[in-house]
Amino acid sequence: MTSSTTQPKQLSPETMESLRREAMAGLIIAAQLEESGLSALDHKTLRDKVSEVTTGSDGRPQVRIDSTGLGLDQKIAVERTLLRHFGNQEISDVSIYFQKASSSQAVGAVPAPVKKKHPLGINLEQKPIAGVKNIIAVASGKGGVGKSTVSTNLAAGLADLGLKTGLMDCDVYGPSSPLMLGVSGPMQVEKAKLVPLEGHGVKVVSFGFLSDVKTPVIWRGPMVAKAIEQLCYDVNWGDLDVLILDLPPGTGDVQLTLAEKIPLTGAIIVTTPQDVALIDAHKAVSMFETMNVPVMGVVENMAHFTCTACGHKEHIFGTEAFEEFLASRSLSLLTKIPLERNIRELSDQGRPVIISGSKSSEPYRQLVGLVRRALEITLDSGENKDPHK
Ligand SMILES: Nc1ncnc2c1ncn2[C@@H]1O[C@H](COP(=O)(O)OP(=O)(O)OP(=O)(O)O)[C@@H](O)[C@H]1O
Ligand SMILES: [Mg+2]
Repeated sequence: MTSSTTQPKQLSPETMESLRREAMAGLIIAAQLEESGLSALDHKTLRDKVSEVTTGSDGRPQVRIDSTGLGLDQKIAVERTLLRHFGNQEISDVSIYFQKASSSQAVGAVPAPVKKKHPLGINLEQKPIAGVKNIIAVASGKGGVGKSTVSTNLAAGLADLGLKTGLMDCDVYGPSSPLMLGVSGPMQVEKAKLVPLEGHGVKVVSFGFLSDVKTPVIWRGPMVAKAIEQLCYDVNWGDLDVLILDLPPGTGDVQLTLAEKIPLTGAIIVTTPQDVALIDAHKAVSMFETMNVPVMGVVENMAHFTCTACGHKEHIFGTEAFEEFLASRSLSLLTKIPLERNIRELSDQGRPVIISGSKSSEPYRQLVGLVRRALEITLDSGENKDPHK
C-alpha cells in the first residue's frame, strides 16, 4: 500500500496579491476605529503591517499581520475589521495571524526576559513564567466586589473548554480559592518547585495552602510583593495555555509588582456599579494603562437583584455611574452578573457556579467565551504557535 500526502492547492499569485491589497485597505479602515490604536500611524506604516499572505496546510489563505506594538484589544479590533472587510469583498475563509516582525522565537521555548520602560524612567526586566503562554490578571480597586468568584469561575470555565488552565490566588491576607474551588493543602515540593493542587480541572496555587487558615499573615506590603513574585516562578505549572491571577483589592505593592515584573497578556476589571467601587476601579484601570497592560474589559458584578418571591428586578447599586465609567475609559463590558443567592451558596461549597449548568452560570459562560476568543488570537495565530506546523 502506498501512502500519499495531499498538498493543499496553492493560491494563485493574483489571488495572493488581491488579498494583500484588501488586507492593506482593511487596516486603513481599522485605523479609523478609536479602539484599534492605529490612528497615529501613516498609511505606509499601516500597509507594511501586512507582512505575508500564504496558503495554510488546510488550503485556506492566511494573512499575517505584524503585531509589534499592538495590545490584545487592538488585535481583536484589527482582526474583526479585517474579517468584516474581507466579507464585504465576498472573500471568505481567510485566517488572520498576528506575529511580531522581529519575533524569531522557537515554538514552546521559554521567552527571553523583556525589557520594559517604567513610566518613571526606570528600566524593568519582565520575566515570563516558564511554560505559561498567557497570563490574565483579575483586578478591582475595591474589596469584596467579586474578583475571586469571577477568577474561579473563569478558570473553571476555561478548563472546561479544554484549555490548560492555572489559577494563582495572590491574596496573602485573605486567600479565597481553597474554599471556592473546594481544595485544601498543603502543596508538595518536588525538585525545589511547588506542585500546584488541582480543583475542577484547574491547577491552583494559594497562600491558603501554605499557612494555617486561622492564623493571620502579618507581613508588610513589600514582603508580600516579594513572596508573590517568588510564588509565581517557584511553581511547576507544567504547560499552561492560561494562568489567571486573582489579585487582592487595591493598587498597592502586590498589584504594581505583578504588573511590572510579569508579562501580563491583559487585565480584567471587576466592579459593582456603585460610585464607591467605580472610583477605585478607575484607579485600577489607570494603573494598568500606566504599566502598558491591555485592559480586556470590565465585569459588572451584582448588577441587579431579582426578588425570588415577586420577580421584581432591583438595581441595588445603580446603573448610570457604571455606563459613564465604561464610556469615560473607552472600555467594553465583558459580562453583567446579577446578585444571586445560588452564586454565593455554590461558591461557599467549593463548586463554581459555571459548572452547575444552571441559568446562573450564563453570565460567567459569556465571559469565558469572550476570553477564549481573545486568547485564540495569541494561541492560534502565530504569536506562540507557528500556523504552518
Ligand atoms: N454575583 C454574586 N451574587 C452573590 N454573591 C456573590 C456574587 N459575587 C460574589 N459574591 C459573594 O460575595 C462575596 C465576596 O466575593 P469575592 O470574595 O469574590 O470578592 P473579592 O473581590 O475577591 O473580595 P476581596 O477583595 O476580599 O478579595 C463572596 O461571599 C461571594 O460568594
Ligand atoms: Mg478575593
